Amino acid sequence: MQVRRTSYCSFLLAWFASYSSCASAWAHAGKSAAKRWEHRVVELDESKHDEEFWTFVTRPDLDAPRWNITIYDKAAVAPGYWFVAPYEEVEQEEGSAAWNAPHIYDQDGQLIWSGAPMFDGYSTFDFRVSNVRGEPMLTAIRPHYEYTAILDNTYTNVENVSIGLRDPEWDGIGHNMHEFLTVENGTRALFMNRSPKRASEEYSAAIGYDGECHAQYDGFVELDTDTWEPVFEWNSYGYIGLDESFVTQDPLEERCEGEVNDVWDFLHFNSIDKFANGDYLLSGRPSNAIYRISRNDGSVVWRLGGKKSDFDLPITFSGQHAAKIRAEDDNRVLVSFLDNAFGPGEPQTTNDASRGLLLALDTNTMTVEVVQEFKHPDGEYTEGQGNLQWVPGTDHAWICWRNKAMHTEHAADGSLIMEARFKAGVRNYRSFKLQWVGRPAQPPDVRSTAVQTRDDTIETIVFMSWNGATEVRQWQIYETNPSGTNTTLVATVDKTGFETTIWIKGYLGHVLVEAVDALGEKLGEPSVFATVPTLEQLVEADEYTSWIPSVLTNPMIAFLLGMIASVAGCLGAWGVIVSKRGDLTLPRWKRKQQMYASLSEEDKDSSELHDRQKHTDAEPERSGLLAGEDGHGVGED
Ligand SMILES: *[C@@H]1O[C@H](CO)[C@@H](O)[C@H](O)[C@H]1NC(C)=O
Ligand SMILES: *[C@@H]1O[C@H](CO)[C@@H](O)[C@H](O)[C@H]1NC(C)=O
Ligand SMILES: *[C@@H]1O[C@H](CO)[C@@H](O)[C@H](O)[C@H]1NC(C)=O
Ligand SMILES: *[C@@H]1O[C@H](CO)[C@@H](O)[C@H](O)[C@H]1NC(C)=O
Repeated sequence: MQVRRTSYCSFLLAWFASYSSCASAWAHAGKSAAKRWEHRVVELDESKHDEEFWTFVTRPDLDAPRWNITIYDKAAVAPGYWFVAPYEEVEQEEGSAAWNAPHIYDQDGQLIWSGAPMFDGYSTFDFRVSNVRGEPMLTAIRPHYEYTAILDNTYTNVENVSIGLRDPEWDGIGHNMHEFLTVENGTRALFMNRSPKRASEEYSAAIGYDGECHAQYDGFVELDTDTWEPVFEWNSYGYIGLDESFVTQDPLEERCEGEVNDVWDFLHFNSIDKFANGDYLLSGRPSNAIYRISRNDGSVVWRLGGKKSDFDLPITFSGQHAAKIRAEDDNRVLVSFLDNAFGPGEPQTTNDASRGLLLALDTNTMTVEVVQEFKHPDGEYTEGQGNLQWVPGTDHAWICWRNKAMHTEHAADGSLIMEARFKAGVRNYRSFKLQWVGRPAQPPDVRSTAVQTRDDTIETIVFMSWNGATEVRQWQIYETNPSGTNTTLVATVDKTGFETTIWIKGYLGHVLVEAVDALGEKLGEPSVFATVPTLEQLVEADEYTSWIPSVLTNPMIAFLLGMIASVAGCLGAWGVIVSKRGDLTLPRWKRKQQMYASLSEEDKDSSELHDRQKHTDAEPERSGLLAGEDGHGVGED
């Protein structure tokens, strides 16, 4: 009698337990399906950007550093694009990541162009727009290959100009990665080089060295840009003495006995410019001096700064970079440069922080006036490199402070207009703000994919970008057939950043995308892109994965499952009771406890099995479709 009552009771409890486990499995299935959908949306929408670098659905080969920008005076910001080339090392054993490449950004810090695919991970320097034969071109020094690459406004690499040393008389060769400057409406190009040479006993005696001191004698070359033949060459040997260098920390013997690849770099030219009369302006970093070199006889016309300055200076500068002629007339020259105030020589610092300087040189009285000082926003030192440039058509100074590629724009009175630095720690040698119109020869990059949302509607997602195109303002998206002959405009969107994404209701099997400029003119030739997955794949995938919730939602099946579970539970309870007969001496509550514990273990097992099936079957299939890995459009090549 007691046994029958217990089994009746356990039947009810077993039925209740199995029904609730079924219900909870159903609820759980519904919830995890919802999560997966949301996850998909997030993954597609946010692309793969992280805080420090951008990566794009349309261009997985790019890896552009992102900016942290602070604008102090929005109205004053001069128009122009930023030209930077973040780098890892000057000399690299092998190519590195895609961020190590020349990049163009707009003034909001949005990526315009990455040279990563073209520049194969080997560092580039002095990347900027140069006038070459009267045309604006991109130029970038490539130390690894010892040439300057020249790209036209379609981003086609039209020339590589060798910057290796040309004079066979010298006992070694050396390129100089600091500057490639075109002048005189692009008819002439200037770059520096370096030549290891044994100084004469007389020159060596100037520093008290008994013998022939082995030193790096820097020079420069002027080329005709039609033929790339030299029209003028000059070397510092015989003009600039070893005794002008501040780099004297190492013992004399060590300095003067260096091997060819490691000679005393006593002068280290790091910038060049040309005067109207043909003379040249050069900056020697370890000599803390700026030199005017005569075009007529190669002599040093004057020295500004350093141990043998021809000018009376109201300030001291050191380790300076990018000495440039801002303006000149008969007896006055305005010279600007970045005073790193942090030399490779002794003393190491000459000011409490690095600064930009604009100096007025009076060449009659040989006196100097400080016209303007541009302060480092953080009051820090740029320990090497950096530059100061004038934004064309304005009186704004643009300064690169190297670390984190920080660059700043300053008004003529020195006040800060804006600053930007990379969020990642990567550095940059020089930065320029310049005008540029890029019309890439390569077509836009488009990816089209589709998803089915929870309420069973399909949406097509189109990603569009065009590496280097400066003129795009809008994208027009057309639905089309595989041959692109029948087109219907479905959406027009403003270009947002490098990559624009649009969600369109419905399934578009093929899309055709047109870039439109500010005047509404179409740019380039459109191509047709197939959506991945196809509609069939999408529906199949959805049917495949949605059987679990749909089965569980069906009330008939749920009821049957409940019944099966409760019968099983009942039989199980009966079995327990029978096997426990001998234990009838146990208190009733204790027997019940043992029985329920074994039942809930069973239930747990069966719900885990459900979960496992769901995950292993469904997920790989989906992520494969979603990633759109081979989503190349038909027309893309
Ligand atoms: C610069 O060169 C281009 C191309 O040769 C020419 O059309 C233009 O007139 C030149 N400009 C000046 C100022 O000489
Ligand atoms: C420049 O050099 C690269 C190799 O570094 C080469 O792939 C490219 O074709 C060269 N360009 C020209 C115009 O010669
Ligand atoms: C952005 O720069 C400012 C200084 O201008 C700094 O205070 C801030 O921490 C930087 N933020 C990030 C995310 O790097
Ligand atoms: C062009 O496409 C539209 C919309 O898909 C369709 O209604 C129309 O029949 C097509 N025309 C031709 C000639 O295929």
